[in-house]
Parts: sequence; structure tokens; C-alpha cells
Amino acid sequence: MERLVNKRILLGMTGGIAAYKSAELVRQLQEAGAEVQVVMTAAAQEFITPLTMQALSGHRVHTDLLDTQAEAAMGHIELARWADLILIAPASANFMARLAHGHGNDLLTTLCLATGAPIAIAPAMNQQMWADSGTQKNLLILQEKGITVFGPGSGDQACGENGPGRMLEPEEIARLAAEIFDYELLTGLHVVVTAGPSREAIDPVRYITNKSSGKMGFALAEAAAEAGARVTLVAGPVNLPTPARVNRIDVVRAQEMYERAVEVVEEGCDIFIATAAVADYRPAVTADHKIKKSTEEIHITLIKNPDIVAAVAEHPKRPFAVGFAAETQNVMEHARGKLENKKLDMIATNDVSGENVGFSSDNNSLTVIWPGGHKVLPLASKRQIAKQLIELIGIRYKH
Ligand code: C5P
Repeated sequence: MERLVNKRILLGMTGGIAAYKSAELVRQLQEAGAEVQVVMTAAAQEFITPLTMQALSGHRVHTDLLDTQAEAAMGHIELARWADLILIAPASANFMARLAHGHGNDLLTTLCLATGAPIAIAPAMNQQMWADSGTQKNLLILQEKGITVFGPGSGDQACGENGPGRMLEPEEIARLAAEIFDYELLTGLHVVVTAGPSREAIDPVRYITNKSSGKMGFALAEAAAEAGARVTLVAGPVNLPTPARVNRIDVVRAQEMYERAVEVVEEGCDIFIATAAVADYRPAVTADHKIKKSTEEIHITLIKNPDIVAAVAEHPKRPFAVGFAAETQNVMEHARGKLENKKLDMIATNDVSGENVGFSSDNNSLTVIWPGGHKVLPLASKRQIAKQLIELIGIRYKH
């Protein structure tokens, strides 16, 4: 159940008498450390009020797709990106049918279409409805789509009948939800991530830096820790909290980042992920005192910084090396060039010419390239992209 700590679960509720059990489910998920937001269909609200679910979850309940006020607070796409898991409990026969056939005619189905997060359903219905050939066909379609199905259980039903179709008990659903996150892909491995910008001093108060926020690297460090790795995060100056179970080393200059990175590689590292936007050049000399305004022009000589990831990839104790390439043109071509020149095992590249991705944004989309293959990770939150990239790295590492 530790796996639910800090997880964001979007609990979708559809119409069914089992909806009352979802109140207890919220509590169970929260007790296991998850943050829960609730989405209710119109039918679900006939069984239990949004007010109850709001009081329990501590968040406003989402009910409408076309509510301008709700969209202004947290739009449906934002909500779809927020979730680490969409859990639908209870899931009615009607909802299963709509989900199986890709409908997007209410908030909950639209969220399921728009999310990159895993989806799990806990069906709840009369045993005849469950046995119906239509429902069974929909079940197969849902499983084929990669949707996880919890239960249903068998036994006495609210309608007086007996058979399969009962929603599983909240404790059981919470336990199964935790198992979704229970992939120990990187257990026993040491992963090092560089993140953020570097800051190259001109004098005691001025420096050269760049727009890197560090968000992608921090999200990767978090995802690697969640996948069971021991993680060292070598971070440039950023304003971000350290993810749980991550060992953070703060640095300022590229030279320092280089030294710390090489030290950890020498100690032993299996996977090195270079997300840091390291300054390519630094002032040849840093003035001891603040440079005074006097002449019309001043000249600062810049000299090259060491290329950290290239040095790591050439080290005798070379780990699996992953680089990043932020490009504004000829993205794939430049990325392939860097993969070869820096002797990397993998490179994740993004087009930073748009406003919606890269640098300070909370979202990203990546094309991941390795010798002989590539994969596109479409636009999603940096958390979700990080999870997908860590999975890909784990698979390629073990290849
Ligand atoms: O050459 P470019 O800076 O575009 O390459 C980007 C990749 O190289 C990123 O993975 C970045 O972290 C890494 N890099 C580095 N040390 C540098 C420059 C870039 O590790 N001095």
C-alpha cells in the first residue's frame, strides 16, 4: 500500500447502488497516502450526493463537461493530466459500453479518452446484466485496450439475486489500485539524474544561465524512485522540493555538476539521465568584485564547459547513458547527431519552439531515439511523461 503515497487518483463514479461504498473507498485511498479527486456522472448523483464526496475527498466534485466555472478552475484536459490513475468504482454496464466504444459524451468518458494514465474499473451490476453477451464483449474490448478490471465479486445482490456482479469491497479495490503502481522495474539499480540549469558567475552578483526549471529532471528522479531505483539527483539552482526517497546533491556551476556527476559514476551507477541544461560556456575569469559601469563596451571571454553526459558515456565505468535534446528546428536530425557524437544509448528530444512544452511548462512531449528505434511520447504532464520514459529506459537497459 506504500505505493499509493503521493499518488493522484481520479475516482470516477457511475450510477449504481454500490456508489455508497465509494465513500469508504475515498477514505481507504487517502489513508494509504493518495490524493483523491472525484468525478460523478449524472446517474451517480442519484445515489449519493456530490456534497458527501466533496466533504470526504476535500476537493470540489467534478460533474459537468461544459461548465465554464469548473473548466476555469481545472479544465478537463488538465484533470486528465493530473491523474496518475483513473479508477472507476462503481462502473455500470452502461459506462462499460460507452468506455469500450470510445464515447466522449460526458465528463468521465472524455477524461478517459484524454488521459495518458492507466484506467481501472470496478464493475457493479445485476448478475444478469454482467452475464449479458453485450457486457461480456465490452469487457473483452476494455481488457484489450489495456484497462484493468477489478472483480466483480459474487454473492447476494441489492436486487435480491445472487451471482457475479457485486462491486468488490473498498479495501480490496484500494489494494488492487496499489498493485497498479507496484512495478519494480529498476529495483537494485542506481540511477543518477542531472537537472536544472547551471549558473556561470561573471562577478559576485551577475551570472549567465538559462530558462531550465528542472521540472523534467525532478519528475524523472521521482519516477525512477517509484520504479524501485536508488536515485541520486544532481541539481542546479532550481526552486523545487526534493522528491521522496531521492538523494539530492545541489550544485551551481557546470564544472561542479561535472565533478559531482563523475564522482557518482566512479562510485557505481547503472543509468545516467542528463536532463540538465548545462551552460555550454562560462566566463574565462570571474571578477572578484562587482564590475563597475564605466566604458561603453566590456568584453567577456567565454570558454567551453565540459560536456558532462559525453564524459560519462566515455568513462571506463560507463553506465547506460540517456541525453536530452531541446531543439527548435530539424529536431530529429540534430538529436540523432547528438546520440552518435556523445555516444549515448538513448536520447529524448523535444521541440521547444512552441509554448506548450519544454522548459518551464508543466507539460511535455518527447520523441525518444535509440540506435535502431524510436518512440513518440505524446503531450502529457511531465509526471506522466517521466513515468513513460523511465519505463522505456528500464526496458532498453535490460534489452
Ligand atoms: O549539446 P547539447 O547541450 O544540446 O546536449 C544536450 C544534452 O547534453 C543534454 O542531455 C544535456 O544534459 C547534456 N549536456 C551535458 N553537459 C554539457 C552540455 C550538455 O551533460 N556541458
